[in-house]
Amino acid sequence: MRTDRTFTMLKPDSVEKGHIGAILEKITASGFRIVAMKLTQMTTADAQEFYAIHNERPFFGELVEYMTRGPIVAAILEKNNAVEDFRTLIGATNPADAAEGTIRKLYAASIGENAVHGSDSDENAAIEGAFHFSGREMF
Ligand code: RTP
Ligand code: MG
Repeated sequence: MRTDRTFTMLKPDSVEKGHIGAILEKITASGFRIVAMKLTQMTTADAQEFYAIHNERPFFGELVEYMTRGPIVAAILEKNNAVEDFRTLIGATNPADAAEGTIRKLYAASIGENAVHGSDSDENAAIEGAFHFSGREMF
C-alpha cells in the first residue's frame, strides 16, 4: 500500500463561496503535488456510497444533502506521509476546534459544512481516489 497519496474533495460550500483557488494555493504551497483533479457533482447514490461508514449516524441525511447540492473539486494529492500531513493541513472536523492556519479554520463554517475532505488512511485514500478517477486520469 503506498503512503504518498491522499484523496481530497473541496466540498460544495468551498465551491459556492469562491474558495477553490485559495484552498488549492494552500495545498500546493504545503508541498502536495496534484496527481488528478476535476470539478464534478456527486449523485445521492454516490454520496451514500462514499460516506457509507456513517450511514447509521444521525447526521447522515444532512451529510448526503450537503455533499450533493452542488459541484465539488475532487483531487488526488501526492506527498511523503500524505494522509497524515493532509489531515494536519485541513484541521479538526469541527472548525471551532481546528488549529490556526488550517484550511477548516480559515474556510469552514461549521462541523456539518466543513469545506474540505481528507482521507483518513492509506487504504481509504486508494479506495476514494479510485471512486472518482480512472487510471488514465491520474498523473
Ligand atoms: P471527512 O471524512 O469529510 O474528511 O471529515 P472527517 O474525517 O474530519 O469527519 P468524519 O467523522 O469522517 O465525518 C464526515 C463528515 O460528516 C459531516 N459531519 N457532520 N453534524 C455533525 O455532527 C457532523 N459530524 C460530521 C462533516 O461534513 C464531516 O466532515
Ligand atoms: Mg472522515
